[in-house]
Amino acid sequence: MPPLAPLFIILGLACASRAAIASPFDKAEALNECLTKAGVPTDSLGSADWKLDAAPFNLRLNFTPVGIAVPATVKHVQDAVSCAAKLGVKANAKCGGHSYGSFGLGGEDGHLTIEMDRMNKVVLDNTTGIATVEGGSRLGHVAWELYNQGKRAFSHGTCPGVGVSGHALHGGYGVSSNTKGLALDWMVGATVVLANSTVVNASATENPDLFWALRGAGSCMGVVTEFRFNTFPVPENVTFFVASVPLRTEAAALAGVQAVQDFALNDMPEELNMRLFITNRFVNLEGLYYGDKAGLQATLAPLIQKTNATLALAQQGGWLDQVKHFGNGVTVDQSHPYNYHETFYSSSLYTKALNETQLQAFVGYWFKQAKANKRDWYVQIDIHGSNTSAVRKVDVDSSAYAHRDYLFLFLFYDRVDRGVYPTDGFTSIQNFVGNVTAGIEPSQWGQYINYPDSRMDQETAQSSYWGSHLPKLQALKKTIDPEDVFHYPQGVMP
Ligand SMILES: Cc1cc2nc3c(=O)[nH]c(=O)nc-3n(C[C@H](O)[C@H](O)[C@H](O)COP(=O)(O)OP(=O)(O)OC[C@H]3O[C@@H](n4cnc5c(N)ncnc54)[C@H](O)[C@@H]3O)c2cc1C
Ligand SMILES: *[C@@H]1O[C@H](CO)[C@@H](O)[C@H](O)[C@H]1NC(C)=O
Ligand SMILES: *[C@@H]1O[C@H](CO)[C@@H](O)[C@H](O)[C@H]1NC(C)=O
Ligand SMILES: *[C@@H]1O[C@H](CO)[C@@H](O)[C@H](O)[C@H]1NC(C)=O
Ligand SMILES: *[C@@H]1O[C@H](CO)[C@@H](O)[C@H](O)[C@H]1NC(C)=O
Ligand SMILES: *[C@@H]1O[C@H](CO)[C@@H](O)[C@H](O)[C@H]1NC(C)=O
Ligand SMILES: *[C@@H]1O[C@H](CO)[C@@H](O)[C@H](O)[C@H]1NC(C)=O
Ligand SMILES: *[C@@H]1O[C@H](CO)[C@@H](O)[C@H](O)[C@H]1NC(C)=O
Ligand SMILES: *[C@@H]1O[C@H](CO)[C@@H](O)[C@H](O)[C@H]1NC(C)=O
Repeated sequence: MPPLAPLFIILGLACASRAAIASPFDKAEALNECLTKAGVPTDSLGSADWKLDAAPFNLRLNFTPVGIAVPATVKHVQDAVSCAAKLGVKANAKCGGHSYGSFGLGGEDGHLTIEMDRMNKVVLDNTTGIATVEGGSRLGHVAWELYNQGKRAFSHGTCPGVGVSGHALHGGYGVSSNTKGLALDWMVGATVVLANSTVVNASATENPDLFWALRGAGSCMGVVTEFRFNTFPVPENVTFFVASVPLRTEAAALAGVQAVQDFALNDMPEELNMRLFITNRFVNLEGLYYGDKAGLQATLAPLIQKTNATLALAQQGGWLDQVKHFGNGVTVDQSHPYNYHETFYSSSLYTKALNETQLQAFVGYWFKQAKANKRDWYVQIDIHGSNTSAVRKVDVDSSAYAHRDYLFLFLFYDRVDRGVYPTDGFTSIQNFVGNVTAGIEPSQWGQYINYPDSRMDQETAQSSYWGSHLPKLQALKKTIDPEDVFHYPQGVMP
C-alpha cells in the first residue's frame, strides 16, 4: 500500500509552490462533494474499503486515485462520470482490478476510480441462452452462476478473480478458445455509460460502431454496466491435461518448440486447446480437450512421442472440475472482497509461425539469457490461431480485436515473491521480446492489451494493440469521448 496520509500531507504543504501546476488532487474535495450531492456511494480515504479497492493485482503499479466511487446502480455510474467530466478529472471503471498495467486505476495517480465490483449480478435466460452479466462480475462468479443456473458457459480465461469487463472488452483468451473463440465473440450486447453520462445500448443493430469498438477497446469508450452474452451448453465431460516436456538443453528446446509449432500448424484438431508453459525449472504442455481421455491420448500421441514428453495428468471430468483445475486452487465463485496480488512486469507478443532463425532467437535467449534470471519468471505460449481455431474463423474486421490471424500468443511474465521489482528487471523481458521480433516487420507481429507492457509509450502501445483498426477507433473516440475522460497511458487517443 502507498503511504496515503503522507502523500496528502505533502500535497497540502506544497500548495503554494504547486499553484501553477493543476494537480487532480486539488480537486479531491470538489469531486467528493459532487459525488456525495448526487448520492453516489464512495469509499472514504483510508477506510478498509478504500485500501481494498485501491489495491491493484499488480502491486508494482500501485496508483493513488483522487476518489473512489462504488456504484450500485446505472444512475450512480452516470453521476460519477458526470462529476469527473465536469471537474476535468480522468475516470476509469475498475472491474476485477487485474490489469497488468493497473489501468482500472487509470494507470497513473489522480484518477477517479469507478469500482464496479459491487454490481455483479448474473442472470441466465434458460430459453434464449442469453446471460445478462453486470459489469463488475468476476470470471469465476460468472462461470459458477452460468453452470448452476442452466449448465451453460461461454469461452473465457481461467483465473476466477479476473473481471469479466477488462477481460471481455479486450479479448478474453482461455482454455476453450481454439474450440469456442474469445470471450468477446460471445458478447451480443452491452449497456454503456458514455463520457457525456448518457446511457446507450450497443449491439449488432443498436450503435453498431460502438459495439464494434467495445469488442477490443471497450475501456476507452465508456463504462459497461451490463453485458449480454450468448452461451453454449457445456459438454457432459471434458479432459484436462498436463504433459511434462524435458527440454533441458538448447538443442532439445529448439526441436521441442519446433515440434509444437508443426503440430499446431498441421495436426491441431478443433477439440484441442493447448499452451506451452515455460519456466526456469520445467516446461509443460497443458490444456483442455473437448472429448474423453482416450480421444486426448490418441490426439496427443504423436506430439508426446516427438517431444519425449510424459502425460503427467489426463483427467476426465465435468465442467466445473476443469474450471476448478485451471483456477489453481482458488475458490471459483469470487466477488468482493477479493485480495490477491503479485509484484511483476510483463509483456506480450503475437506471431505467425516462426522460421528457423526466429525459433533459434527465442530458444537462444531463453537458454543464454533468461536462465540466468533466478526470479520466478515464465513464458506462456498459447496456440491462439491454429487452422482449426474458432478465433481465426471470425472475420478480423468484425470487431476491434485486431490480431485473430496470429498463430501464437506469448505472455512474458517476471515476478518477485516479495519486496520491490528490481529496475534492472525490465530489460530482461524487453530483450526477450526484442530478440524474437528482430527482423520481423512490425506489421507481422502485435501485442495484447490484456497482457500489456506498461513501459510502452502511448503511440507505440496503440499501434501494437490495435494495428490496422486504430484509425477507426481513434475516429470513434473523437466522436464519443473528445475530452478523453476515460484516459489512461496506453488507451486509444481521440
Ligand atoms: C491472474 C491473471 C490471470 C489472467 N488470465 C488470463 C487469461 O487466461 N486470458 C486472458 O485473455 N487474459 C488473462 N488475464 C488478463 C486479463 O484478461 C486482463 O488483465 C483484464 O483486463 C482484467 O480485467 P479486470 O476487469 O480484472 O481488470 P481491471 O484492471 O479492473 O480493468 C482492466 C481494463 O478494463 C477497464 N474496465 C474495467 N471494467 C470496465 C467496465 N465495466 N467498463 C469499461 N471498462 C472497464 C479498465 O478501465 C481497464 O482499462 C489474466 C490476468 C491475471 C492477473
Ligand atoms: C434452467 O435450467 C436448469 C438445467 O437445465 C434448471 O436446473 C434450472 O432450474 C432452470 N432455471 C430456470 C430459472 O428455469
Ligand atoms: C438496453 O437494453 C436492455 C435490455 O434489452 C433494456 O432493458 C434497456 O432498457 C435498454 N436501455 C436503453 C438505454 O436503451
Ligand atoms: C495451416 O495454416 C498455415 C498458415 O496459415 C499453412 O501454412 C498450413 O499449410 C496450414 N496447414 C493445414 C494442414 O492446413
Ligand atoms: C527425444 O529423445 C530422442 C532419443 O533420446 C532424442 O534423439 C531426441 O532428440 C529427443 N527429442 C527432444 C525434442 O528432446
Ligand atoms: C462426467 O462428468 C460428470 C459431471 O458432469 C461427473 O460426475 C462424472 O464423473 C464424469 N464421468 C467421467 C467418466 O469422467
Ligand atoms: C537480444 O538480447 C541481447 C542480450 O540480452 C541484447 O543485448 C539485445 O539488445 C537483444 N536484441 C534486441 C533486438 O532486443
Ligand atoms: C526468417 O525470417 C527473417 C525475417 O523475415 C529473415 O530475415 C530470415 O532470413 C528468415 N530465416 C530463414 C531461415 O528463413
Ligand atoms: C452523448 O454522446 C452521444 C455520442 O456522441 C451522442 O449521440 C448524444 O447525443 C450525446 N448526448 C447528449 C445529451 O449530449
